[in-house]
Amino acid sequence: MYVGADYYPEHWPRERWEVDAKLMQEAGFNVVRLAEFAWVNMEPMEGCFEFDWLDEALAILHKHDISALLCTPTAVMPAWVARKYPETLAMLPTGKRITWGVRKNNCFTSGAYRLLSERITRAMATHFADTPNLIGWQTDNEFGHPVCCCDTCRADFQDWVRAKYGTLEELNRRWGTHFWGHKYTTWGEIQIPAPSGTAWRLAGADHLGTHNPSLCLDYQRYCSHLNVRFQRDQVRILRELCPDHFTTHNFMGAFSDLNYYDLAEDLDLVSWDNYPVWDRPAISYGSAAAADVMRGLKRKNFWIMEQTAGPGGWSVFGRNPRPGEIRKIAYQQLAHGADGQVWFRWRTCTAGREQYWHGLLGHDGKPLRRYREAAQTAKEYHKLAPELEGTTIKAEVAIVYDYETIWALRIQPGFPGNTYHEAMQRYYNALFRAGVNADMIKPTEDLSQYRVVIAPDLFILPDDLAKRLTDYVSGGGVLLTDCRSGVKDETNLCHDRTLPGLLTEALGIVIEEYEAMGDGVEYTVVGKQAIEGQYAAVKYVDWTTPKDAEVLASFEQWHLESFAAATRNRFGKGSAYYVGAVVSEPAFYDQLIADVLKAGGVSPVLAPPEGVEVSVREGAGKKLLFLVNHTEERQQVSVPSGKPELLSGETTSETVTLDAYGVAVIKLE
Ligand code: GAL
Ligand code: ZN
Repeated sequence: MYVGADYYPEHWPRERWEVDAKLMQEAGFNVVRLAEFAWVNMEPMEGCFEFDWLDEALAILHKHDISALLCTPTAVMPAWVARKYPETLAMLPTGKRITWGVRKNNCFTSGAYRLLSERITRAMATHFADTPNLIGWQTDNEFGHPVCCCDTCRADFQDWVRAKYGTLEELNRRWGTHFWGHKYTTWGEIQIPAPSGTAWRLAGADHLGTHNPSLCLDYQRYCSHLNVRFQRDQVRILRELCPDHFTTHNFMGAFSDLNYYDLAEDLDLVSWDNYPVWDRPAISYGSAAAADVMRGLKRKNFWIMEQTAGPGGWSVFGRNPRPGEIRKIAYQQLAHGADGQVWFRWRTCTAGREQYWHGLLGHDGKPLRRYREAAQTAKEYHKLAPELEGTTIKAEVAIVYDYETIWALRIQPGFPGNTYHEAMQRYYNALFRAGVNADMIKPTEDLSQYRVVIAPDLFILPDDLAKRLTDYVSGGGVLLTDCRSGVKDETNLCHDRTLPGLLTEALGIVIEEYEAMGDGVEYTVVGKQAIEGQYAAVKYVDWTTPKDAEVLASFEQWHLESFAAATRNRFGKGSAYYVGAVVSEPAFYDQLIADVLKAGGVSPVLAPPEGVEVSVREGAGKKLLFLVNHTEERQQVSVPSGKPELLSGETTSETVTLDAYGVAVIKLE
């Protein structure tokens, strides 16, 4: 079990390094991450390397039994790189290059940048290969930005497209360029479009977002490929020179400008940056789902590489984690499969843009409340380590998590505010409240290992996936899908079929029409059978005609009277549910999910009170039940009695009491 902090020795005088290492050791820390922005400190002039300072810092940490991860420092290029090789700076859609400074300035197709990145990676790997306390490498920092509109990138995109489609005729067909007279007659005519996504918003390119959706989707795939290729070049060097060290990257949870499955494939381990403390205290549904996405990338446990240690902000800052909250955030991730925990950052910096991004220690460097809470957590983690060994979440419910669908929905949401994550969280949050774990899976994953598969907003539905979902249901699986599923094919053309296309038989419904509603328009949804009560449909409804399916909810408005808001269809040995509306009230989803779980024969270990999260890690003959109180109220939770609670050392009676942000770890087996 590794616990520690992101540490920047280069920000502090050398006399302080010993003090820091000692404080870390006293806190029970045994790992730090170093050097992700320290390129110029290590290569102050082209080809001249200076590693002495880092050797010294590593040696001091080693003396205090602290291991280290080093980073390839390519997220911030030195000023001399930009000066000597201006083509390494990414070009904005305006045709101007990024002004050097801040971070993530580079063009990923620049030959010079790729060579310089390989050289510093090779120099570091060669120099540090035998450092006794070095255990692993992080590539770069938070891949994803920027996108670049330079001529090299455009030519490279054209090559990528050519390799994919082979002939222009095929490209024109798959992109549907008969529309608006967009037919290409040479490869050189293909332009960089404006895909949607945060990178483009940062680049100020939103106004360009009306290009051909098929072109946009392929461009998004291409941008992802550039990052994956750049990382692969580094990983190859690290593997060759440091075969005993693991490789990782700090992913960003729900961030989805890149295909994270592809980025994870070349790494040994996924780690991610979790910053859940913003505005008002709230139940951290998003961090739970993001953790499951991270665990799903390689289908194994992950690390936290950065996690909230104090108020955060670059100009204004947010609230301070309240007593117990730093620990609670850590336990939520532990419960979802985090086998390493690193806080961002050790000490708040007195210089630079992140002066307000607070660490465990403040500007004054004193070990106060936040430090003490992290230390308590670290010590508990070490105590739990033998019990955690070999355990992970073994979910019976899967959620299909597909970057192509996420991207295609960003390019054309269909109705305002429609994102994959919004749709997914409606079901995910209901599972969370029911106390049921879920795996996030690629659409190509073997579905038969799950009792329930939820495929929210499955916008891009290739025929083979529709067939596999149908076979899954007929073979006894329980499928739940909803609005806008099955609209598109792999190249982002609409299928020329009546919805829900190839899922029609399994779902037992037909959707001949649908509509988006403006703000303030609501239709009344009336529950039937398993769903009780009345709810509001907002934003979007399918005009769903039930054929073989039973109606679980209908509409009250006269023009929707013959249509269903939610259906359930028995098909073969399984069942398939469809929700053709966006419903405001969580209670609607809670009842629906209860019925879906019942159909799948999935029963939670216990029914938690609202705001208490339940998660189970098991394996190697062990089974651990985690309870995490996301609220500031004391909570009573009914639990299996006569079991050891590992943090207090007590044996459970019928209930466990959790204080504000309290946690419990109960050994069920
Ligand atoms: C992360 C990043 C860190 C730091 C932190 C706080 O996204 O990886 O380097 O910038 O945010 O802003
Ligand atoms: Zn470029």
